[in-house]
Amino acid sequence: MNQDQLKREAALRALQYVPKGAILGVGTGSTVNFFIDGLAAIKDQIPGTVSSSVKSTERLLALGIKVLELNEVLAAGQPIPLYVDGADEANDRLELIKGGGGALTREKIIAQAAGQFICIVDQSKCVPVLGRFPLPVEVVPMAEQMVAAQLRALGAEARLRSGFITDNGNIILDAHGLRIEDARALETLINQWPGVVTVGLFAHRPADRLIIASPEGVREQAGAAAARAG
Ligand code: A5P
Repeated sequence: MNQDQLKREAALRALQYVPKGAILGVGTGSTVNFFIDGLAAIKDQIPGTVSSSVKSTERLLALGIKVLELNEVLAAGQPIPLYVDGADEANDRLELIKGGGGALTREKIIAQAAGQFICIVDQSKCVPVLGRFPLPVEVVPMAEQMVAAQLRALGAEARLRSGFITDNGNIILDAHGLRIEDARALETLINQWPGVVTVGLFAHRPADRLIIASPEGVREQAGAAAARAG
């Protein structure tokens, strides 16, 4: 099985968790694209979605799946019981690096708004320690040099993602060479630097369930809260 087939396997497994009649949070990326395609078959059960990127919105709409604004959903008091998204790296605590596709800010917002966050990956994304994948940081353009210097002070090599502007009009600095032993502490630290919009660490709000596809089959790992709930 190649990597795309594994991504598809993980995505299809997540479909069984989609609650009927509820607003669904939808992430961004090649793995989620398989999930969106699979949603088409059950779209009559989904009153609407909230989307984490322009790209996912376009894909959802092309399949006839309704996309709503997060603010209108929350203002109407409608719950978002589930958010499904991929990741660039995941550790055993279900802490993640995300933002390879540049949608990290909206992804983090919807993950925070949702009751449950299911992350779908192929096994190549699972690592003992986060940081092999460059850590994306969304930055307000005028703060580029300042934030790059702060990342260098942490021992990273900060590279501007060339020719890329986020859906929010900002730039991405990719921090190479970090070994992230304490993801929560690093998320807190980088998030409070002026000019940083979002760091692509999902540690304070990790995934609740990880669906991992490998050539041996699909397995699932529940985070601490999901495991307690059974
Ligand atoms: C998008 O900004 C990212 O957070 C994606 O979730 C992540 O990069 C995984 O993407 P793939 O599913 O394409 O590997």
